[in-house]
Amino acid sequence: MGKVTVGVAVVGAAAVCAAAALIARHRMRSSSLCVKAADILKELEEKCATPAAKLKQIADAMTVEMHAGLASEGGSKLKMLISYVDNLPTGKEEGVYYALDLGGTNFRVLRVQLGGKSGIEFTEFAEVTIPPQLMIGTPEALFDYIASELAKFVSDESEKFWLPPGRQRELGFTFSFPVMQLSIDSGTLIRWTKGFSIDEMIGRDVVAELTTAMKKRGIDMSISALVNDTVGTLAGGRYENSDVCIAVILGTGSNAAYVERAQAIPKWHGPHPKSGEMVINMEWGNFRSSHLPLTEYDNTLDAESLNPGEQIFEKMIAGMYLGELLRKVLLRMADEAALFGETVPPKLKTRFILRTPEMSAMHHDTSADLKVVGNTLKDILGISDTSLSTRKIVVEVCNIIATRGARLAAAGILGILKKMGRDTVRDGEVPKTVIAMDGGLYEHYTGYRNCLENTLHELVGDQLSQHIKLILSNDGSGIGAALLAASHSRYV
Ligand code: BGC
Repeated sequence: MGKVTVGVAVVGAAAVCAAAALIARHRMRSSSLCVKAADILKELEEKCATPAAKLKQIADAMTVEMHAGLASEGGSKLKMLISYVDNLPTGKEEGVYYALDLGGTNFRVLRVQLGGKSGIEFTEFAEVTIPPQLMIGTPEALFDYIASELAKFVSDESEKFWLPPGRQRELGFTFSFPVMQLSIDSGTLIRWTKGFSIDEMIGRDVVAELTTAMKKRGIDMSISALVNDTVGTLAGGRYENSDVCIAVILGTGSNAAYVERAQAIPKWHGPHPKSGEMVINMEWGNFRSSHLPLTEYDNTLDAESLNPGEQIFEKMIAGMYLGELLRKVLLRMADEAALFGETVPPKLKTRFILRTPEMSAMHHDTSADLKVVGNTLKDILGISDTSLSTRKIVVEVCNIIATRGARLAAAGILGILKKMGRDTVRDGEVPKTVIAMDGGLYEHYTGYRNCLENTLHELVGDQLSQHIKLILSNDGSGIGAALLAASHSRYV
């Protein structure tokens, strides 16, 4: 009995010692953890830094790659795809045209009545979400789904849209993926981006696939123009403003198009267009340079993606990826610095659980107690009772990631301005440059948009920035495709 008592006493003493050690360790761990989160944040800030000098190097690299991509097929990571759009809308287009805009997670169908000088008379549209399984299924399933939604839309065409008798409906197809165009109304898919992955479709003619699906669904319509969303946005922007010569999309994915002199395209073997100009779809999402401030988070995001090694620029600046980068940083902070307590919140391990709209909402939280941040962490990640200092760290991570993305996008624009010779004031002559912008990231993430615009100003200087204007061309890509269907109409 006595022995037992002694034993218990020894065990009790040991337990007390162990507990004391544990508390001491915990205290040390807690304070070292605070330091650790701050360290991770500092390291992130340093690695994501984009001083103007670096951005200028990136812009120069973009210009160099643009030249290389125009010079020969495969000459650069930038595809610099010829769009076959050499006549942008003039404002005289007339008639009813359809557009189908397949961009990312949604697609839109539009009907537009163009009234010549009186402009766009009516538009109607429907927006449909693409079921995720179709993004990785078969070409037939994807195109049949699109055609079935298009059929529904066509079937309720109201009488105000007037199609001359005997005339077939015409469609402009905005297909927002890299396509090697063979003509204005045909082109083969080079690769998928933005979470789509249907291998069978690579190398197939996008227009032929849609035409077959439309026939099966009994839709009497012809596809008069196949365009990238950047090209559609440029066309839609030009219709509104004759100084538009560049279009940039910052949405789920990112890309840019601009008007190039036909002689500056050595790889162009066709007859030079009468206008002497050609719209180039850069596919800038695939840009890569040793100057890009890549971090471990970018590298793992890329390695885990459906297209590793590709679309590196896009993965740093576009809406599909910003929220995921944020999640990765928070996961490391949770794991190594116990940012959210002793255990790592399980939901934080789910890829793509944090989307960019939520990141934007947290980043823009102006409440004193960062309520939006607290609620988002609770609702999306199941993390409750976060302290103000934790919330502040989250906001700072959002800020670092969004700032880097927006500043890099501005550097990309500077690269285009350089290629076009519009980056300096020469002999007092300054052409007006209007850039049509589209995409949910640019439209809705105010902090990102402001940062991009301020950075462009910083890069080009006060004088030149007075001659450069960014305009939001909301849904320009859909309207632009309808306009291009009109200017390439078989009846014109
Ligand atoms: C695609 C481009 C597209 C851009 C914006 C990218 O992922 O490769 O073709 O223009 O997203 O939608």
